[in-house]
Amino acid sequence: PGHLEVKNGHLHIGGMDTVELAREYGTPLYITSEDRLRDNFGRFKKAFPDAHIYFAAKSNNNIVVQRILAREGAGADAFSDGEIYLARLAGIPPEKILFTGNSKTDAELEYAVNSGVMVSVDSHDELISLSGIASRLGKEVKIAFRVNPDVSADAHPKLATGLKTSKFGIPSQEIVSTYKKAKELPGVNPVGIHCHIGSQILEISPFAEAMSKMMDLVEAISGFIDLEFVDIGGGLGIPYQKDVRAPTPQDWADAVLPIFRERCAKLGINPELHIEPGRYITADTTILLAHVNTVKKAYKNFVGTDVGFNLLIRPAMYDSYHEVVVANKADGTAADTYTVVGPICETGDILAKDRKLPEIKKDDIIALLDAGAYGFCMSSQYVGRPRCAEVLVHEGKADLIRKRETYDDLLQNQIIPGRLL
Ligand code: LLP
Repeated sequence: PGHLEVKNGHLHIGGMDTVELAREYGTPLYITSEDRLRDNFGRFKKAFPDAHIYFAAKSNNNIVVQRILAREGAGADAFSDGEIYLARLAGIPPEKILFTGNSKTDAELEYAVNSGVMVSVDSHDELISLSGIASRLGKEVKIAFRVNPDVSADAHPKLATGLKTSKFGIPSQEIVSTYKKAKELPGVNPVGIHCHIGSQILEISPFAEAMSKMMDLVEAISGFIDLEFVDIGGGLGIPYQKDVRAPTPQDWADAVLPIFRERCAKLGINPELHIEPGRYITADTTILLAHVNTVKKAYKNFVGTDVGFNLLIRPAMYDSYHEVVVANKADGTAADTYTVVGPICETGDILAKDRKLPEIKKDDIIALLDAGAYGFCMSSQYVGRPRCAEVLVHEGKADLIRKRETYDDLLQNQIIPGRLL
């Protein structure tokens, strides 16, 4: 991608030398390109000119990232009360926030009602709770139902969400009765329908299939529901491996917009189309820099870095592939095969397996690419490691957008009972 380039043998992001940034801010370090973020969002605006883009906030919880997207016009898919809170702080108005969680608490629902956001209802129990809470507060909430469309998307098993076996959504065959029920209940106004079939989807056909199934349901409820929006979720994959062919927002739009428009015209309705991309907007905006502490020639060539699954859990959790670049030898030719590991006390703490890379030595800097989605936001302090810093680069300048944690942060919220003082 254009925001990454090699100059003087060093990897640059947004025109800035990553080796210099590592020196200035230390490692580990997440670095995000603001231009790339705006460009990625722009791709959706162009491909879906009439749709509303609800950024899946779970993919990147940095308030600055959300603020930039808010200024580009994004709404938010917020999966928890905390994400509603952050989206509001980022400047996203409540009417452009959809609370999409499953297994929501009553307290979260009350928070959502008071915030004035819309709610995607995931179960019958939730519908009853929400109706009760909103009525008690003398309010009415706009709701959608999360449908389980039973579409098989070719995603990692842990990332497929639209199968009938998954925990998400209300089965299609119960949708009509559920909307009827909602119409009778006080405090809730069913105006939307929502699905999300999975994540890191690299084929277009599941999106088309889901769109058709959603429109079947729209048809079934349109006689008695005044539909304001149809939300088809997110899930567009990205090419983590450069030789993988991945669909673009335009491919997604080309596959679903004709179905949506034709079926709406046939029904004589004019609902908004909502999409909820996360990964595609944030993933390739960001790299994660690691410092090489050791190179061990053992059963394999193990490169020991300061980044482990505490900071990037995707390889350990989903066997995900992240491209590795030796940032200070970015134009070097492959010299050997390396397995890049972290500083966590588990064998599974592997970031990249058997990669052909230039010769790696202690104190080299390694960049893990495409780390902007489900990266920092899934981090932990496991093994007593304070979380790292985040930097935003824009027009040749870098801004610290999250401080590195300190030892004090390891103690945050811990309380020592008096008798143990
Ligand atoms: N909408 C809903 C309701 C979702 O649950 C998700 C993601 C999205 C939209 C956005 O999907 P995206 O466009 O980012 O694929 N931690 C995993 C991914 C989990 C996705 C969860 N839901 C990973 O690192 O791959």
